Amino acid sequence: MTNRNPHPSPARASSEALVVLISGTGSIMAAIEQASREPSYGARIAGVIADRADAAGLEIARAAGIATAVVSLKDFPDRATWDDALARTVASFSPDLVVCAGFMKILGPAALEQFGGRIVNTHPALLPAYPGAHGVRDALAGGAKVTGCTVIIVDAGIDTGPIVAQAAVDVWDNDSEDSLHARIKDVERELVVTTVGRMAREGWTVEGRTVTVGQA
Ligand code: GAR
Repeated sequence: MTNRNPHPSPARASSEALVVLISGTGSIMAAIEQASREPSYGARIAGVIADRADAAGLEIARAAGIATAVVSLKDFPDRATWDDALARTVASFSPDLVVCAGFMKILGPAALEQFGGRIVNTHPALLPAYPGAHGVRDALAGGAKVTGCTVIIVDAGIDTGPIVAQAAVDVWDNDSEDSLHARIKDVERELVVTTVGRMAREGWTVEGRTVTVGQA
């Protein structure tokens, strides 16, 4: 697959529009929002969408003056209609890049068809190790000594897309899932902010499994 983001170039004066999908705390989204206050960041959050009305990150987004929407699976008769509604809601913000930041649902065909190649996800493990909903717990249970976080371009699989960026975090002997996840998130926020900013400013290409950010 070759996929060059057609929009960004270093000469662009305006910033790229992001839609951020969240399910919970939204601390990564908040870090992007903070970074985007600096115009040279090159991206701004046009909208935040959650799959749960009680996602705490929604309040952070509203307080920052960002438009929000909730598209909850339980409000739809099946996954396909939820996926259609989610894709329409994402499209309503005309994003250049969609960022799944703690979004705990798998995107379906409607979202992938419309935004495929322009959706990134951040995962709290060094993919392809420990994919899925419990990346931190699974790394601990697997006896990993080093884990971390990974930004991927989303494909139809579960955390199987091409890797954009990774950062490593040591596992400590006395780590709990919470303590390890907190240290991962400290590193992850910076990784996501840096990676999304570079993608927005410099564009990217995907050749097979290899993602290159910036002019190849
Ligand atoms: C992050 O660690 C992210 O990698 C993880 O949820 C956390 C969200 O934190 N996502 C997944 O586990 C997806 N499989 P936040 O809500 O504070 O930004």
